[in-house]
Amino acid sequence: MCGIVGYIGMQEACPILIKGLRRLEYRGYDSAGVSMINEKGELNVFKAKGKVDDLEAFLSDKDISGTIGIAHTRWATHGIPCRENAHPHFSSSGTLSLIHNGIIENYATLKERLIEKGFTFVSDTDTEVLVQLIEYYKLEYKSDLLSAVQRALAQVIGAYAIAVLDKNNPDEIIAARKASPLAIGLGEGEYFLASDATPLVEYTHKVIYLDDDEIAVINRNSGLQIITLQGQAVNHEVSEINLDLGAIEKGGYEHFMLKEIFEQPDCLVNCMRGRINPEGTIVRFSSVIDNAEQLLNARRYIIVACGTSWHAGLIGKTLIENFCRIPVEVAYASEFRYSNPVIGNGDVVIAISQSGETADTLAAIELARSRGAFVYGIVNSVGSSIARNTQTGSYIHVGPEIGVASTKAFTGQVTVLTMLALCIAKERNTITQAELEEALGELLAIPGKMAEVLSQNDAIASLSRTFTYAQNFIYLGRGYNYPVALEGALKLKEISYIHAEGYPAAEMKHGPIALVDAEMPVVVVATNKLLYDKVLSNIQEIKARQGKVIAIVVKGDDTISKLVDYVIELPETAEFLYPLLASVPLQLLAYHIAVCKGKNVDQPRNLAKSVTVE
Ligand code: G6P
Repeated sequence: MCGIVGYIGMQEACPILIKGLRRLEYRGYDSAGVSMINEKGELNVFKAKGKVDDLEAFLSDKDISGTIGIAHTRWATHGIPCRENAHPHFSSSGTLSLIHNGIIENYATLKERLIEKGFTFVSDTDTEVLVQLIEYYKLEYKSDLLSAVQRALAQVIGAYAIAVLDKNNPDEIIAARKASPLAIGLGEGEYFLASDATPLVEYTHKVIYLDDDEIAVINRNSGLQIITLQGQAVNHEVSEINLDLGAIEKGGYEHFMLKEIFEQPDCLVNCMRGRINPEGTIVRFSSVIDNAEQLLNARRYIIVACGTSWHAGLIGKTLIENFCRIPVEVAYASEFRYSNPVIGNGDVVIAISQSGETADTLAAIELARSRGAFVYGIVNSVGSSIARNTQTGSYIHVGPEIGVASTKAFTGQVTVLTMLALCIAKERNTITQAELEEALGELLAIPGKMAEVLSQNDAIASLSRTFTYAQNFIYLGRGYNYPVALEGALKLKEISYIHAEGYPAAEMKHGPIALVDAEMPVVVVATNKLLYDKVLSNIQEIKARQGKVIAIVVKGDDTISKLVDYVIELPETAEFLYPLLASVPLQLLAYHIAVCKGKNVDQPRNLAKSVTVE
């Protein structure tokens, strides 16, 4: 949610900033802007509504020179997307420019106070309040920028990652963070700033992740100094980033989302590597070995997550309960954090997050830890805040996910949850070695079977054209497939803007069946062996009301297949592994419908990939 970039060094800043904004465009794309200090000592700010392309076009006849600069791509929180509300924001005197990712919760009070002191505002944003507040302290105390930033941040309630330029000091960027991510790339005589490591990889592999309540003073001559808000020096570890540039580019695919859907077999191989032995007899997590006491003897597991990660959590619940016989609850992180949960010692919280930066999930972790629970993270983004704030955890290792609609992260999360459940079950003796080997054998075969599903892409694309003009969709599934139905509906909503609902198939008769008529497409995930007849009856009920059924079935099915309008076949696997296969055609269906409708698949309206505000 909002991407920020900064540069200071010997090179021209603007091309680096623009490239960085493109890498971060998945975080926000309703407006963008840059600010540089040129050789003459002028502080320029240029902004445009729309995408980074619109900004670049706007810059074509501007003075964009300067070897120090900051840039921002916005996801609107306060104020509509327009040039005035875009970042960077100037202070009243035009001496400071500032970019911000986060929310200043007490901005209204601060704004009122500043207006009383004679400050005027040109935007509706909370960010402009912050830059004016810094200017106020700078003038009031006749102080340097750093002291003014410290004073201002001491007044702020909320979340921020910021970077500030001061016209009077063209050799320095000041950056700070609280609850919004900020990485500093260390080059040779140059420094980079970004909301995540993706804009940094082409310049450097050395990165420092700022922690909460820290300020970075990045000076062209004296280098980087990190201090706390109160001014104490901090020594930071430098992390190595191992991001492959190819992984953050489209590699010949029309959209990141399609690329990421097709990467899934390889991603799952990476995810399983080093955790399951090639013979399929052992599954190991160092996190389980090192924390056996907490994980194996837990009274209860509570999974907290948002969005797609929450759907993975629902599958995780069924996996852990079935294999490990430990009760599991699944909570939306946003609800959990304000719910005064009955939780404490003996409880394990599993926080699932692709980005590792979701504000609600971070707050849920904080609450759980403060009450004595043990917190395990399942995260994709290496070095992210959630990865750093959990006591232990596992990365899903699927590589950077750029498309806003999550695909490979979901199947990666489900794969980690599957392995984790099997690992804990084996340690607790709730499954036998023979059962473990059978399960692992099936799991190891999933990437190959997923590739078979992906080979039906053309057929799914042509099926999608039939539904381009549908107004509504229903998705149904049972057991392990119920969260798959929820996720399928979410994917369609997110990128095609078609209203879609996911339901447990049997619940349909308690309401949604009233919606079914000849205009209603119903996607049924019908791979269940145990509940096959029940799902069959659910389909009959839809057909009796002329609904159009698209069924996801197991290859060779000849009962449901004959009854429905369209069939997508999956290779056979174990019941608990169908979510990994069944999600793929639903991702492709949503993708192709959105493409047919001419929607921006990778950057759907109103959505952000990394939701760093409440
Ligand atoms: C946003 C994204 C979703 C994601 C959710 C949770 O809404 O658009 O794709 O599932 O946040 O994000 P996380 O990074 O915590 O998994």
